[in-house]
Amino acid sequence: MSNNVRPENMQRITNFDLANAFIDEQIKEIRKQVGNKKVLLALSGGVDSSVVAALLVKAIGKQLVCVHVNHGLMRKDESKNVVKIFKDEMDANLIYVDATDRFLNLLENVSDPEKKRKIIGAEFINVFADEARKLDDISFLAQGTIYPDILESIKQAEGKKAVKSHHNVGGLPEDLNFELVEPLKLLFKDEVRVVGEALGLPHAMVYRQPFPGPGLGVRCLGAITRDRLNALREADAILREEFDLCGLAEKVWQYFVVIPDIKSVGVKDEGRYEGWPAIIRAVNTVDAMTATVEEIPYPVLHKITNRIINEVEGINRVLMDLTPKPTGTIEWE
Ligand code: XMP
Repeated sequence: MSNNVRPENMQRITNFDLANAFIDEQIKEIRKQVGNKKVLLALSGGVDSSVVAALLVKAIGKQLVCVHVNHGLMRKDESKNVVKIFKDEMDANLIYVDATDRFLNLLENVSDPEKKRKIIGAEFINVFADEARKLDDISFLAQGTIYPDILESIKQAEGKKAVKSHHNVGGLPEDLNFELVEPLKLLFKDEVRVVGEALGLPHAMVYRQPFPGPGLGVRCLGAITRDRLNALREADAILREEFDLCGLAEKVWQYFVVIPDIKSVGVKDEGRYEGWPAIIRAVNTVDAMTATVEEIPYPVLHKITNRIINEVEGINRVLMDLTPKPTGTIEWE
């Protein structure tokens, strides 16, 4: 599939038979395009890059070199899981880069949301390019581009303005001039998930909620500090665990914790306890352009609150964000 327009008669991939037919066809296409050359992939662990990785491992095995950049803004255990699934279980050629210090040092004292986004996006490309330059004879760059990305670029080319500068890999420096391999570029998200499961990826990975490129960086509001970031990571893990337990994870499109850069006075062990508030956001949407707030049963909210205030160092209150989009965007920054 060399062009970027989905043929009108292209059948929607809704089951494993159709997914397997797509996989077989793509394996042939990829082998034909790549030959015996090497392909590089930035593997974030998101649905799209994970499915591309699994497909390419199947098509070309160790000719694929995956680079997972941990920018220090990942959720709890996320990078560990990427390594476990792709390196340990699929035996993929995976380079793990812990770039936490590079990112957090650059972000120190930066509170403007757009500046934070730009720094994270640019540094991601720097770290990835540094890794790419260490490797010889790479000819191709695989990307998890999907059809909505193509439609979005067309919209932007027509001059429609974006609210936030979303980041994804792309725009590598000129000396890294790779040919692109984009096997998912004509698929919609639901089709990518079916293909992912047909490739043997875990259900939880393929159906995981969206996670923004700048990661927890846009949820640790204002200037990021390591202690507040750690508190955010722990509180977010509790929220996800509890949503999994009560079945909400399957019903709510996106749910996460945000921690603003303010402290309030509280009390703990009979003494004054200044802490941050953890803010819960749980929304449903079809296309992320508008969103409604999900109703969470009070007993679930109480349990999550009790766990967060008792288990997470530095948090003394838990709040719920009841704002739809518009006016609130889904992320706070
Ligand atoms: P907003 O906050 O704009 O978010 O209402 C809409 C959806 O986009 C996700 N999001 C991002 N996704 N890179 C991404 O890949 C980004 O930089 C980014 N920023 C926001 C957000 O999580 C929500 O699902």
